[in-house]
Amino acid sequence: MKVSMSVNGVVQDHDVEPRTLLVHYLRDVVGLTGTNIGCDTTSCGACTVLIDGQSAKSCTILAATADGSSITTIEGLAHGDELHPVQAAFREEHGLQCGYCTPGMVMAAVSLIDEHRTPDGGTDLNEAEVREGLEGNLCRCTGYHNIVRAVLSAAGVSLPGPGTHIAATVGGGQS
Ligand code: FES
Ligand code: FES
Repeated sequence: MKVSMSVNGVVQDHDVEPRTLLVHYLRDVVGLTGTNIGCDTTSCGACTVLIDGQSAKSCTILAATADGSSITTIEGLAHGDELHPVQAAFREEHGLQCGYCTPGMVMAAVSLIDEHRTPDGGTDLNEAEVREGLEGNLCRCTGYHNIVRAVLSAAGVSLPGPGTHIAATVGGGQS
């Protein structure tokens, strides 16, 4: 069957099998391998992309279901050499180690921050909301501490000092 969607602003038209998952479509058909596959069972969030601006786990959605939509992957965030503010905050706050969860984590964070935009261009996010908002994204390396700092920083929330321990769990729960 034919599917057509905008991926990072470029219209993609391809023939796919009806059972093709969106994550496989993005990686194997469109050739954007920044979106990772961690579990294939809706558990880890490594495959998170934006569909019409909202975060979604692309291993749970058929490419056919996304027909006609606008997809943003991690490759679509930066402008040339200029990182997206969330990417820059992950780098600045050391919000990654092996990096496997990072594309999905960043995409989920972009969506979360957008959901909490205030009319003055800021956000009303707080630490608890970051932890709750990212609970569908698992990280095996970082203990989540610096991920939360990165998201709060990108959201314009002032951070506690570097040595200050903000609470120990996020998302999948245990650090
Ligand atoms: S690969 Fe999609 S949630 Fe883990
Ligand atoms: S940085 Fe390794 S899984 Fe998150």
